[in-house]
Amino acid sequence: MEEIKFNQVGVSFKGSGSYVPDQILTNQEISQKVDTSHEWIKSRTGISERRISSLGDNVTEMGYEAALSAIEMANWDIKTIDLIILATSTPHDLFGSAPSIQAKLGAYNAVAYDLTAACSGFLFALITASQFLKGGLFKRAIVIGADQLSSFVDWNDRRSCILFGDGAGALAIEATNEFDNFIGFDMRTDGERGSYLNLPSKNNKDSIIDNIEFLTGGFSSIQMNGQEVYKFAVKEVPIIIEKLFRKTNYNSDQIDWLVLHQANQRILDSVGDRLKIPREKILSNLGKYGNTSAATIPLVMDEAIKNNRIKQNDIIATSGFGAGLSWGAALIKWG
Ligand code: UT7
Repeated sequence: MEEIKFNQVGVSFKGSGSYVPDQILTNQEISQKVDTSHEWIKSRTGISERRISSLGDNVTEMGYEAALSAIEMANWDIKTIDLIILATSTPHDLFGSAPSIQAKLGAYNAVAYDLTAACSGFLFALITASQFLKGGLFKRAIVIGADQLSSFVDWNDRRSCILFGDGAGALAIEATNEFDNFIGFDMRTDGERGSYLNLPSKNNKDSIIDNIEFLTGGFSSIQMNGQEVYKFAVKEVPIIIEKLFRKTNYNSDQIDWLVLHQANQRILDSVGDRLKIPREKILSNLGKYGNTSAATIPLVMDEAIKNNRIKQNDIIATSGFGAGLSWGAALIKWG
């Protein structure tokens, strides 16, 4: 293990990046496949179109592009990166895709690994990386959220296929001993309610030799109880953010941006209303990309940073939630 580099350290946010595949699938096009309509999808979810990976796009490639862009913004020498965490549920390699991203970047001094927590994955990875930085073990980290759910959607299930798309986003974060822009966090899981949203393994029976059976590896498609996931999100997300406000002595009025996992516009609006945070402070790019799972938070943040909406020292309340069930929140200051 590395030696401790600092005693009392905080985290600062240095860069962001994102990537989406070129291929666009509109609501009208989905309605050629299943019994739905643009009007239904738009009014119930806020989504108009989403990106779908085609040949050549996968989580490693998308995550690499997002990471590279975040590193460029941070203006870092790639060899100074200590840690790369890739949040994904759909790795290109089930043994882990982060080391491939490390190799493509040439980040030879970094340790890189995957973390799986579905749509909460990016938030959990950001919290994990920030704790390493605050612990003084690492100085520079890249946190990536990337998913290719299009490969695991049942494109005949109109109750779920309308929601998901592919993409990646990344943040570059650094340890500092001057201030702490990672103000606070909280995270929860509840496996009792796990059956509301799954991507279960699907195994077939085969035999190696006579009398020795084994199960072939593989996965089914996304299974979702949309109404239960919806109810879970609109109840638990405001609770965990309010708890975080109390813990950090912040309140809704001090928040410049509410950055929620992009699942459904109605969930975003409902959480904003419960927290009394006005609509113009709630970032949303659901219309263009749908739910890209672990990628949504860094993807929507990168867009707002590059468009100069999120500015230096802005206070951001962020929350990820989804399968597990899992959910969490973090309060950060950009910069
Ligand atoms: O990262 C977390 C991922 N998951 C989520 O965020 C899911 C959260 N849940 C949701 O976003 C919503 O529950 C959905 C968008 C999935 C569904 O919206 P809803 O308003 O909860 O619809 P519903 O399931 O209550 O269905 C209402 C009606 C049903 O018809 P009947 O039984 O009332 O005749 C459905 O069969 O809408 C029907 N329906 C559709 N109609 C047209 C369901 N899906 C569709 C569709 N097009 N795609």
